[in-house]
Amino acid sequence: MTHTNTQSSTAEPSPSVLPTRSLGGLEVSALGYGAMVLSPGVYGEVDDERGERALRAAVDAGATIIDTSDGYGADGHNERLIGRALRGRREQVAIATKFGFRLPEGVEPHPFPTGYAFGELAVNGDPRHVRGYAEASLRGLETDYIDLYYPHFPDPQVPFEETVGAVAELIEAGLVRHLGLSNVTADQLRAAHAVHPVAAVQIEWSMWKPADPQMLATARELGVGLVPWSPLGAGFLTGTVGQVGEGDFRQNAPRFDAANLKANNDRFAPVRGIAQELGITPAQLALAWLLHQDPHVVPIPGSRTPKHIEENLAAAHVKLDAEVLARLERILGETEVEGGTLL
Ligand SMILES: NC(=O)c1ccc[n+]([C@@H]2O[C@H](COP(=O)([O-])OP(=O)(O)OC[C@H]3O[C@@H](n4cnc5c(N)ncnc54)[C@H](OP(=O)(O)O)[C@@H]3O)[C@@H](O)[C@H]2O)c1
Repeated sequence: MTHTNTQSSTAEPSPSVLPTRSLGGLEVSALGYGAMVLSPGVYGEVDDERGERALRAAVDAGATIIDTSDGYGADGHNERLIGRALRGRREQVAIATKFGFRLPEGVEPHPFPTGYAFGELAVNGDPRHVRGYAEASLRGLETDYIDLYYPHFPDPQVPFEETVGAVAELIEAGLVRHLGLSNVTADQLRAAHAVHPVAAVQIEWSMWKPADPQMLATARELGVGLVPWSPLGAGFLTGTVGQVGEGDFRQNAPRFDAANLKANNDRFAPVRGIAQELGITPAQLALAWLLHQDPHVVPIPGSRTPKHIEENLAAAHVKLDAEVLARLERILGETEVEGGTLL
């Protein structure tokens, strides 16, 4: 298929090569890059120049899947940033985006509580609007196809199979290559998979947020890939978060409240100790641990900082042996997290 980007006239560096994994048939690097952090007002301030640099650093360091959403930043900010940063490099990466948050005028928002620090959110998953969402995302991303397209959250007011059916039509029309689901239950995955094969499910999953065992079993049974979001525990698992500042969504997350954060940092000291013993960083251990949970897991860590991005993606090469994995399992099983179960 053709695409609307023009080839860059300047020579681009050859990207590093990471091991690959399959998300329901979509071959991507074992670790991807999550771009949410690049829109202002999520993890505090960030400017577009820094954002574009971070995206290019992710591709240079071997990420071949970039994750975004029509809901990150105002008016499709995150997708537009990616469109600009990837000019001339579109074919090097798969773009995964999500829909249902950026509603055109006249489309009614359907609010629902998430339990997350993001508070009450509102989406519209009416199948009649889905093609319009995709066309807006394609314009922002400066491309003519989306590799992996997810409803960001199921709309509680619309039968989920109908929203999913609208994505199946986009696949038929060639605008989308693979169907993804985000923030669904195992039963919703099964129902959606009966409408159209699902390539990947995106869930919050990390060393401090266990995945629903029923979801893991269902995804394995159906051959669906797993994309853990906030795989670094929104930064916590890097061991570098002592406090959170203004304009940072984590200010609303009980796990990051000052007293809880201190307690959680103390309790994760043994995990950081294992990273030190292995000569890797806590961030690399957190990502390598996820990669060792299942061969179809592709975490999508986010960062604004090229040095962190390189460090994170290098974790795709880290091997953890059975003894280390068993020790981690025991420690994580005994470590209670303060501040509830959600970010
Ligand atoms: N489907 C959903 O509902 C949903 C929800 C949330 C997120 N997501 C996806 O998941 C992606 C990742 O999640 P996330 O960004 O929330 O959390 P994350 O990847 O767990 O953590 C990001 C945070 O970690 C810090 N960080 C990253 N690498 C680091 C390193 N090596 N050393 C020190 N600090 C480091 C970043 O700060 P610096 O910028 O300073 O490095 C940033 O504050 C998002 O971009 C988005 O695509 C999806």
